[in-house]
Amino acid sequence: MLTAAPPRHLDILMCPPTHFAVEYAINPWMNTAVPVDVARAEQQWEELRATYQRLGHDVRVVEPVPGLPDMVFAANAGVVYDGRVLVSRFTHAERQGESAAYAAWFEAAGYREVRTATVRNEGEGDVLTVGRVMLAAAGTRTTREAHAELAAFFGVPVIGLELVDPRFYHLDTALMVLDEQTVAYYPGAFSAASRAAIEQLFPGAIHATEEDACGFGLNAMSDGVHVVMSDRAPRLAERLQERGYEPIGVDMSELVKAGGSAKCCTLELRA
Ligand code: ARG
Repeated sequence: MLTAAPPRHLDILMCPPTHFAVEYAINPWMNTAVPVDVARAEQQWEELRATYQRLGHDVRVVEPVPGLPDMVFAANAGVVYDGRVLVSRFTHAERQGESAAYAAWFEAAGYREVRTATVRNEGEGDVLTVGRVMLAAAGTRTTREAHAELAAFFGVPVIGLELVDPRFYHLDTALMVLDEQTVAYYPGAFSAASRAAIEQLFPGAIHATEEDACGFGLNAMSDGVHVVMSDRAPRLAERLQERGYEPIGVDMSELVKAGGSAKCCTLELRA
């Protein structure tokens, strides 16, 4: 089936990788012995931003803070929906300083309500909105208690999905929302019950292979037509094309050293 709907306009927040580094290891992709090329990371990030802008999307930028090397992963800043922001409460001490930095940006940007989560919650890394429903990871960084807080704060149903493979530690590494009817995901990252829930909600769900998932192909941003994604997931790109989407590959090789790719660098500022 070909998608006929026009692309959705995206308002995006990004944070440049000025202070990017792999100084600690809080997920299986991070290895402090592997050097990071910051200049290259900056070029890749600029290319990602330029790609969104070429597609007509608006990108806003938050000032990076020295000593917060993972702040480039703006998806983890919080969840923005309906003029409200639930700022993240990070699992690891190394990232906890990001909450205040992002909260200050949201406050200055004039959001009508900016609250910091009271329980562990890693924002859009673990919470993906589909229309008026949120899919939220459980079992890794974001907790079940966070789902209740999300539901109460935003007034939307929150569907918990259990991640079971440590390589896919955030929901956005294992599942991408293509449009209100379709997701693509790697079944092996989820518990059997969560796989069944995904299939029931999205009968046409696209299955990614382990290789595509390890190439961070699912860590992608879709406007319903264009899918900005890692160039290391060729099979998934083909599947998307067959289904009428237009995959746009970006090289995120430096940021992948910290366990993040295109979507991790992107927070959607949902109206
Ligand atoms: N090094 C970061 C961490 O482990 C990577 C975060 C990637 N972000 C994401 N949305 N998946 O927290």
